Amino acid sequence: MSARDKLRQLEELRRQTLEGGGAKRLARQHERGKLGARERLDILLDQGSFVELDRFVEHRSVDFGLADQRIPGDGVVTGYGRVDGRTVYVFSQDFTVFGGSLSEAHAEKICKVVDLATQNGAPVIGLNDSGGARIQEGVASLGGYAELFLRNTLASGVVPQVSVILGPCAGGAVYSPAITDFVFMVQGISHMFVTGPNVVKTVTHEEVTLEELGGASVHSTRSGVAHFSHPTEIESLGAVRKLLGFLPSNNAEDPPLRPSEDPAARADEELLDVIPDVPTQPYDMHEVIGRIVDDGDFLEIHSGYAGNIIVGFARLGGRPVGILANQPAVLAGVLDIDASRKGARFIRFCDAFNVPIVTLEDVPGFLPGVAQEHGGIIQNGAKLLYAYCESTVPKLTVITRKAYGGAYDVMSSKHIRGDLNFAWPTAELAVMGPKGAVEILYRRELEGAEDREARIDELESEFRERFAHPYLAAKRGFLDDVIDPRETRARLISGLEILQNKRQRNPPRKHGNIPL
Ligand code: HXC
Repeated sequence: MSARDKLRQLEELRRQTLEGGGAKRLARQHERGKLGARERLDILLDQGSFVELDRFVEHRSVDFGLADQRIPGDGVVTGYGRVDGRTVYVFSQDFTVFGGSLSEAHAEKICKVVDLATQNGAPVIGLNDSGGARIQEGVASLGGYAELFLRNTLASGVVPQVSVILGPCAGGAVYSPAITDFVFMVQGISHMFVTGPNVVKTVTHEEVTLEELGGASVHSTRSGVAHFSHPTEIESLGAVRKLLGFLPSNNAEDPPLRPSEDPAARADEELLDVIPDVPTQPYDMHEVIGRIVDDGDFLEIHSGYAGNIIVGFARLGGRPVGILANQPAVLAGVLDIDASRKGARFIRFCDAFNVPIVTLEDVPGFLPGVAQEHGGIIQNGAKLLYAYCESTVPKLTVITRKAYGGAYDVMSSKHIRGDLNFAWPTAELAVMGPKGAVEILYRRELEGAEDREARIDELESEFRERFAHPYLAAKRGFLDDVIDPRETRARLISGLEILQNKRQRNPPRKHGNIPL
């Protein structure tokens, strides 16, 4: 065979590797409203940037007639490419080949790209569409999953890891996405569960559909497993690209600057009117965020889950920041179990990847109640506190209104290494709200009062005058300044500038022991 003949042979072999499970199975995938493994990579990556690895890998099984069914690539397309010109490593499971199921060889291919990503400091993005462990391979396949779980864990905090669920993801397979930093799901086609509807019915006698048990809606609103839920694959993959734009490629880099036309000194008059005159009245913290950040552009994470806290990425003066804000419009912005878990995970991501944290605070405290206490608000609230305490990235806080009780301490207070802490003149820093305080402090007097309600009003306004303002805290240096709300953007941008070279280290240790 001449060199040219060998080249032609290579071209033919390469062509065969593109076929996957064949045109019929791909058509079936399309009928279900799903894209093919390669089509997804084309949408995710910069045009023409994908470079494939391991296209000729096949499984090595002979049982159950598999010796005659070898498909090059073995059900997963792996390699690297670019997103906005930056390198990413990728794998995309091909449901047309053995239902995207994971064999030993399939797992080795995925592990190879996770290893490359970790060693070379670039994000890894997994597109999951799989029937789980390749049943015919038995324990070899289970071993493959365990190899992947180990790599996901070792890569955690070293390179960003993103999982996009674009089909079934069941059984132990769910634990790989669960370890990664962000999980994306698509409505109607993504399903994640440890045991499917049939097993659930047998064990607990509950009747539930696939969608009700593990669809995008339930995981983005109830369980919190999914950080993002989109109506289509195209929107989902577009959002992955947007997310990566805020993140550094690895934990040794700073997040990428993107200069903005939005002036750093832009003062926003409307911020003066955001806080209602009545302290118990809600307002939407999204409005504050939108008015402060570059071009009003905010990528919210977990938008459907624990709405009493808002987390997401934005830029200030071109620098990416993680924003964590109480949301007075949902449950008065109170901290509960879900909000604490959501906030803690986000802070730990930002801290691992050098993303400064901006906290916007209006919090009446932790949510009271038997369900919360029995559900473990103590341990879960402590997660948020622990995450703030251990973080060493620049931390800037703006108290817009309430900073009551333990929640004052938790939300990036000066005492737990908040770097720059500001308050608006509308801020109230106190052990508790005036109503609660008056009822405890003056219980005896109120019992004997002629007009109890009138006396409560009087005492409340006295209490408010004495304590419900930012100046006692400012006098002690617990606040660095009380600022004009209109200047918030300018003060945060200048704060980020002076903190850009911050270096802070925690004591040497193997690792801390975050409350779980
Ligand atoms: C081998 C599999 C497979 C698997 C699907 N296929 N799952 N082959 N191992 N796990 C094959 C089918 O035989 C079929 O092959 C093709 O993929 C498409 O499957 P269908 O059933 O026709 O598709 P669909 O109706 O869409 O159903 C998809 C499905 C179902 C819901 C995923 O296939 C299913 O329930 N599969 C088994 C899921 C499962 O129990 N997996 C093990 C989970 S436990 P042909 O040749 O006909 O196209 C697990 C443990 C991990 O994963 C542990 C880690 C610690």
